[in-house]
Amino acid sequence: MRTSLIVVAVALAAAACTSPAPYPTEPLAANQQPSRGAELYARHCAACHGQDGDADTFVAQLLLPRPTPFRQGLFKLVSTTNGMPMEDDLLATLRRGMPGSTMMSFGWLPEDDLRALAREVRQLAIHGRAESIHQTAAIAGRPLPLAEATEAAERELLPGPTVDVGQPAAITAGNLAEGERLYRQHCASCHGDDGRGHGVFATGKNAPPVAFDRIRSMSA
Ligand code: HEC
Ligand code: HEC
Repeated sequence: MRTSLIVVAVALAAAACTSPAPYPTEPLAANQQPSRGAELYARHCAACHGQDGDADTFVAQLLLPRPTPFRQGLFKLVSTTNGMPMEDDLLATLRRGMPGSTMMSFGWLPEDDLRALAREVRQLAIHGRAESIHQTAAIAGRPLPLAEATEAAERELLPGPTVDVGQPAAITAGNLAEGERLYRQHCASCHGDDGRGHGVFATGKNAPPVAFDRIRSMSA
């Protein structure tokens, strides 16, 4: 089960690798209303991720794991070395959803809508980061106009080079055993020996570790 997770992660990274599409910096296609992404976002995403992307909604408080606050510009499912998602990374998340959480698949939406949503998510991240740069500069006594802070945020959120994960390794008894050893050494303290998320560090104020068996049953 752990193996299948790793295989999926590697396969996804490899797929992203072979078709790198950098995040578009060009304006939206002329025939696409710029507000389309915002409109779709308000309809399909804001209840969980928040209207301005801070994920501080009533619904969000009830969910575990919590919906991602886009304004912080932190993403998990990326194929780049600097942790910033390419458009393809966000599209993949939207198509696939995040099994084991309430992040569902939006694969039923037309391709153009998915792209508009991916760009909206990026805009929210840029706005959030820009405001924080703007505020920090003001506090430090070196005021920076919001427009300049936005340019800085755009640069920060540009995806870096793609991670080259190579070909997925064939699964053998040998590397399974090595994987199990590494898992026990580095992961079991939180995720538990059996992957159910009951390791010794699984309680406390931090987010509970993901129970891998749950991810599997939901994605199967
Ligand atoms: C029912 C609540 C819910 C709705 C509606 C929802 N999401 Fe999510 N979303 C989540 C949760 C929860 C997570 C975090 C899952 C995790 O961390 O395992 C998430 C994570 C994400 C991520 C983060 C991926 C990453 O790399 O970390 C993106 C991007 C995302 N959602 C986009 C969207 C978009 C766009 C929409 C609307 C089309 C949407 N979500 C609708 C709950 C929701
Ligand atoms: C200190 C505790 C801790 C350790 C050690 C740890 N994890 Fe996690 N892991 C977490 C927590 C907490 C989450 C859930 C984070 C969230 O939902 O935002 C998580 C989530 C995950 C996820 C799911 C990501 C997602 O959102 O879908 C994977 C996969 C994962 N860990 C793999 C590993 C592996 C492999 C190791 C060992 C190399 C490891 N973890 C070690 C605490 C830990």
